[in-house]
Amino acid sequence: MICLRAKPLIEKTQEYLVKLRRSLNQAPRLDVLLIGNHEASAIYVGRKKQAAQDIGIDVVIHHISDHASQDHVEKLISMLNNESNCSGILLQLPLPAHFNVMKLLTLIDPAKDVDGFHPLNKGNHLDNFAAFVPCTALGVSRLLKFYNINLQSKNVLVLGRSAIVGKPLAIESLHQNATVTIAHSATKNLPDLVKQADIIMSATGHFGVIQWDQVHEHQIIIDVGIHRHNGDIVGDLGKKPAEKIVAAYTPVPGGVGAMTVNSLMYNIFKAYCLQKQSGCWADIAQSIDALTL
Ligand code: GUN
Repeated sequence: MICLRAKPLIEKTQEYLVKLRRSLNQAPRLDVLLIGNHEASAIYVGRKKQAAQDIGIDVVIHHISDHASQDHVEKLISMLNNESNCSGILLQLPLPAHFNVMKLLTLIDPAKDVDGFHPLNKGNHLDNFAAFVPCTALGVSRLLKFYNINLQSKNVLVLGRSAIVGKPLAIESLHQNATVTIAHSATKNLPDLVKQADIIMSATGHFGVIQWDQVHEHQIIIDVGIHRHNGDIVGDLGKKPAEKIVAAYTPVPGGVGAMTVNSLMYNIFKAYCLQKQSGCWADIAQSIDALTL
């Protein structure tokens, strides 16, 4: 049984990115728009800021009141699109209900869209054409590659169809020649689908939609969830019983969440290098990919 810890890959990637950063004339800069007082968002943004600063990326957090208008945020995004020192723009989700989220995401310059949420990047991702791949899906792909897990011809079951996690995970799996099933709240025969899967990627956003006693020893479990349960931080499946055997699983914490943050760093360097035409991104990407081998 393999525990798919993110730490060894993150350490290798960080070491490479620190060297890359030293070779650049200028620090890449991430601008984060954090709207309102969403507790989990503040924690996630804090982690992204720390990871970025650890490798020499500048971070500007724009704390915006939850009473701010759509127009105010649109003007800020337009300003950052035109600011040459800003390499990447991240609009932390979710937003208070009065915002038109799609309009804001579409306004972000696709070249600065380090989350990969702009429709142009989403469309390019569908076609497996150079794009900013959403960080969770990119992180899962990189982690699987690092642990030599090949999706070729495997039955991958993705639980959850969100635009930012479930769908990009399904697309990434498809690009790797998996046979992909997406299950969601209206799916009828979930226990059967769970039984048939080789790899289960749980991104339901809810605790306990499937549980450890439903999965078997030949399966690989990728758990994207983060929940507080009985004083523990656990994934969608809850705390893994010590005696439960599966082929491989991602720990929570220390698995997918950590890879998501690390893949954001990857996308920020990609944005910087492509914008400044600094170094050859194709070579850099190849070196970063090689870290997973
Ligand atoms: N909210 C939860 N996950 C994410 C993410 O990866 N990016 C953004 N912008 N917001 C999120």
